[in-house]
Amino acid sequence: MSILKPSLLLGALASLSLVDAHGYVTGIVADGQYHGGYLVDSYPYTNTPPDVVAWSSGATDLGFVDGSGYSSPDIICHRSSEPGALSAEVAAGGSIELQWTEWPESHHGPVIDYLANCNGDCSSVDKTQLKFFKISEAGLIDGSSPPGNWASDDLIRNNQSWTLTIPESVAPGNYVLRHEIIALHSAGDNNGAQNYPQCFNLKITGSGTQNPEGVLGTSLYTNTDPGIKIGIYQPLASYEIPGPALIGGGDSNPAPTAAPTEAPTEAPEAPTEAPIIEVPTEAPPAPTEPAVPSYSAVPFPPTETTTVVEQPPVVTKTMTTIVRPTDAQPTGTQPTATQPTNPQPTPPGTLPGDGCPKNNVGPVELDLDSMTTTELRDLAFNALQRLFTPRRQARRHSRQFGEA
Ligand SMILES: *[C@@H]1O[C@H](CO)[C@@H](O)[C@H](O)[C@H]1NC(C)=O
Repeated sequence: MSILKPSLLLGALASLSLVDAHGYVTGIVADGQYHGGYLVDSYPYTNTPPDVVAWSSGATDLGFVDGSGYSSPDIICHRSSEPGALSAEVAAGGSIELQWTEWPESHHGPVIDYLANCNGDCSSVDKTQLKFFKISEAGLIDGSSPPGNWASDDLIRNNQSWTLTIPESVAPGNYVLRHEIIALHSAGDNNGAQNYPQCFNLKITGSGTQNPEGVLGTSLYTNTDPGIKIGIYQPLASYEIPGPALIGGGDSNPAPTAAPTEAPTEAPEAPTEAPIIEVPTEAPPAPTEPAVPSYSAVPFPPTETTTVVEQPPVVTKTMTTIVRPTDAQPTGTQPTATQPTNPQPTPPGTLPGDGCPKNNVGPVELDLDSMTTTELRDLAFNALQRLFTPRRQARRHSRQFGEA
């Protein structure tokens, strides 16, 4: 501890500042109709939580399931998950939008959706018997500039939401939709990939006839799958999305939003001196989707400052412009009365980061030597504030709910 370089300490704090609570799905819009989700930061502490279409979750730390749980029922619909009481109706060929709370930008990875036929009432189905088939998948959009541009980055750009299409060919019936982000920021380590599954009951209507076989939730992945055990801090030419093959008529890799028109001619190499904040570059909106106003919920505390660092002239031309997504307020419609606003996740009885021991291995590198004193001060201030604010919230929560 005697010779701790101040820059190392600051670097650690800077990456710590990215450790915000992980997200969860607060609600879905099925063919235009909003259905509230399972609010994991409040329903577990309520005597009679409302009936919802979402499956419950015991992941009150907003944590994940990793490779050590791929053969346990936790991987099916998240930890200690139980079926939702209701179902959302959607026509085959129709759309489902899943609305997440803020997703941490360091948690790059694929977004995958499955269906499993309940062969009856989903609200009383045995999850260990459900057989899932993949209806939609999106993974690496551009891997030339590590850690790459991923489906999860699209989700963030799209107001923390994900929209998928129910294949028109799927036979009508009661299904469980299994929606999942897999965060790969630590996936170079054994069991380092983090799965964040969420389930919802759907009543699919229509005249489709396809009834794919599917695989048990506990057979979806192994911890050595090429798309599970993978280091993303290197240029990647391709990425193999894990899980069983997409069914015919499924949705594969929605329109890339940031494909560069010309690839860099030199192999990207990390300049040793250049300041790097590895955040997604501003990308044009997907051509197939309506423009969504840049909306980037400001993580608490709302004093986001000085996170944009200009490139110095020494940066090689393989480096892309470093622009942090703006923290502009939404210019579109404000949340309506029928939709709950994203609640600030209150870490109940646990400290943020508990569920994510490895995410300090983040992609942040800062050249502190080239930052101004003001930038350094603000950086440290932000990092410390983020470090302590959640602890205060956790203590307040403990007092309120009488937890140890
Ligand atoms: C963003 O999503 C939230 C729901 O998660 C919604 O209430 C809000 O209106 C959306 N904002 C924009 C600009 O679309």
